[in-house]
Amino acid sequence: MRLILLGAPGAGKGTQAAFITEKFGIPQISTGDMLRAAVKAQTPLGIEAKKIMDAGQLVSDDIIIGLVRDRLQQPDCANGYLFDGFPRTIPQADALKEADIALDYVVEIIVPEENIVERVTGRRVHPASGRSYHVKFNPPKVEGIDDISGEPLVQRDDDKEDTVRNRLSVYRNQTQPLVEYYSSWAKSGDARAPKYRHLSGVGSVDEIRERIFQALEN
Ligand code: AP5
Ligand code: ZN
Repeated sequence: MRLILLGAPGAGKGTQAAFITEKFGIPQISTGDMLRAAVKAQTPLGIEAKKIMDAGQLVSDDIIIGLVRDRLQQPDCANGYLFDGFPRTIPQADALKEADIALDYVVEIIVPEENIVERVTGRRVHPASGRSYHVKFNPPKVEGIDDISGEPLVQRDDDKEDTVRNRLSVYRNQTQPLVEYYSSWAKSGDARAPKYRHLSGVGSVDEIRERIFQALEN
């Protein structure tokens, strides 16, 4: 299985990626998680990316495309992969297409903006694994603690309300055009085109998981 999860900040890409990668035995390629790891390790890329991420802007296409290209060389990508948060611009999507990276599905998770701010500001994450929780909608078993590792949860630096609003406007301007990009490619008759599926991301985490699994069955 080779797919892209497309959706606004806070749409539930990371949450649902965990179920899909488990079911199909494929790695999650989250450019956001990769950048946060670089920030934590204070690499030159991380130091540069931190400023951009904290402002809610996008890291340059060249850097992101290079990161993904290297990641795809790793042996765990042989059976498939799930892209989360990538591609995010038309040039990133073109880079995938030009490199002939196979895709079976593009799944868009649609959540109205009024739900997003509450979701993102209540999010708590386990940095090492990328697992995310929500104080109200998806709480951990013990407050502030990751269910699996027992380690503390933290709030992402870019989950402040102002930054979230910037991220939403960047999404609208730079990423939303990918909906048209992939839906029209799917209709074009090109045999290489991934199937395009879209579904509502409003409902319980379990409901959305079932919707996605169903969408991937046909
Ligand atoms: P990235 O990490 O990709 O962030 P994002 O796209 O803004 O998405 P989020 O991680 O915020 O949301 P999500 O959809 O994963 O939601 P989640 O499942 O956690 O990118 C961060 C930054 O890195 C970017 O701003 C940019 O600077 C840079 N970057 C990354 N990739 C890049 C690229 N390709 N090009 C350039 N720059 C790039 O859920 C959110 C919350 O909602 C959680 O609290 C969760 O528990 C809760 N929740 C989940 N499902 C439900 C539900 N059904 N009901 C209620 N609550 C729910
Ligand atoms: Zn995420």
